[in-house]
Amino acid sequence: MLVVDLGGQYSQLIARRVREARVYSELVSHRASAEEIRRRNPVALILSGGPASVYAEGAPHVDPEMFALGVPTLGICYGMQLMAQDLPGGRVDRTGAGEFGKADVRLTGRLGKDLAEEQTVWMSHRDSVVAPPAGADVTASSAATAVAAFEDDGRSLYGIQFHPEVVHTPNGQQVLKNFLFGIAGAAPSWTPTAVIEEQVERVRARVGRSRVLCGLSGGVDSAVAALLVHKAVGDQLTCVFVDHGLLRKDEAAQVVETFSGFGVQLVHVEAHRRFLGRLAGVSDPEEKRKRIGEEFIRVFEDQARTLGDVRFLVQGTLYSDVIESGGEDGVAETIKSHHNVGGLPADMQLKLVEPLRLLFKDEVRRVGEELGMPERMVWRQPFPGPGLAIRIIGEVTAERLETLREADAILQDEIRRAGLYRELWQSFCVLPAIRSVGVQGDSRTYGYPIVIRAVTSDDAMTADWARLPYDLVEQISSRIVNEIPAVNRVVLDVTSKPPATIEWE
Ligand code: XMP
Repeated sequence: MLVVDLGGQYSQLIARRVREARVYSELVSHRASAEEIRRRNPVALILSGGPASVYAEGAPHVDPEMFALGVPTLGICYGMQLMAQDLPGGRVDRTGAGEFGKADVRLTGRLGKDLAEEQTVWMSHRDSVVAPPAGADVTASSAATAVAAFEDDGRSLYGIQFHPEVVHTPNGQQVLKNFLFGIAGAAPSWTPTAVIEEQVERVRARVGRSRVLCGLSGGVDSAVAALLVHKAVGDQLTCVFVDHGLLRKDEAAQVVETFSGFGVQLVHVEAHRRFLGRLAGVSDPEEKRKRIGEEFIRVFEDQARTLGDVRFLVQGTLYSDVIESGGEDGVAETIKSHHNVGGLPADMQLKLVEPLRLLFKDEVRRVGEELGMPERMVWRQPFPGPGLAIRIIGEVTAERLETLREADAILQDEIRRAGLYRELWQSFCVLPAIRSVGVQGDSRTYGYPIVIRAVTSDDAMTADWARLPYDLVEQISSRIVNEIPAVNRVVLDVTSKPPATIEWE
């Protein structure tokens, strides 16, 4: 299924919702010609929403031939208005009655199958369709919008003004399913098992008998990518796990244990001292990042060289990275700098294997589960490449690292026990570079504070501080000060992003 992206903020979300219905879905640019679309042979098309008015200069358009392909097509919001504008008989106007937010519609027709006529939906539009294309029936209306949906069964063209993809449209997923299964006749065959089978075949075909290298960071993406490739080519794969000593408690051991359990050839490079040496005396956050990044590459390269004739490098690039870098063109052979593996020597001439290139993060997790990866690894919260070093304000020393790591382990433990770990985007501790006075037993102390940082977010671009239950905060606080002698105070960060960032450095 192809989602024709007209610039709406929910285009990716539409593709994800369709995949949740187990139909494989990709985004295409609205600039794609009808001929290009036809060649891809989609089972259905969805035209996304978009911020523009269809009349505005420079507003995105589609090739109107698209509507003559005979492929079932659903226009959402702006996509619907484009259909009304491009097809004879349809008309879009600024009626002065825009709708933003919740609205009640009466929904009938095939898109409303198995649903009550009265539906709560999410709207966000200023213009409205005032006449559906000739031959189409009006199948929904709200108080403000007479044509909130239309259906033309003869030509398989459908339009809805509301957004079925957002959670604020409670039955939106059913509307999408009605389109996918009831109208387009798609098969719900996109499952983690199918993804694994397909990728295993692809990796085998690409790699042949060559040796493959994979850098592990401790994160989910590289780990799932490595396991998939291992399933495909077994011992042709060697993983290099550069352990910089800045991971959370027990994480390195979990990586080693999991991969040895799967029989993966793993080189575990314990480079704590090298990294601490490079960080000695460094307080500036960007300088820390730079030094850790450089050292990471150096250690990885040293190892890679000793492995001899390696031809391929595995990277855990996700579909969201592919979209961000402007789609399919020119990305495949480029090693991306933001990836945790870092750079590689130019003379190695490695080709990339990216088995997660088609997947969104939640799908990677499902594939990880299906491959048998332990729950604790699959559901790990995001963690920055430079690790705990950017959660220690000021100089990173072995003692300060130990203090933060222990505090963080207590926090994680309590958050997990409270059943909140998966709900939170990130939860962690920060060690500031100040001390304060306290009293423990009969004596005065002059110890470190620990900051609790817990946020909810969808994509880390914005975040809100999590309203942790006070009893839980109390439990975390008392355990940290009781169990870690260097700490005599715990504080809670109650700042959203913006204005703050999630990390402290
Ligand atoms: P901020 O702190 O900018 O973080 O709100 C947004 C997300 O990015 C992660 N982050 C990093 N990840 N290297 C990484 O790989 C970094 O240097 C880095 N800095 C921040 C952060 O954990 C959050 O998820």
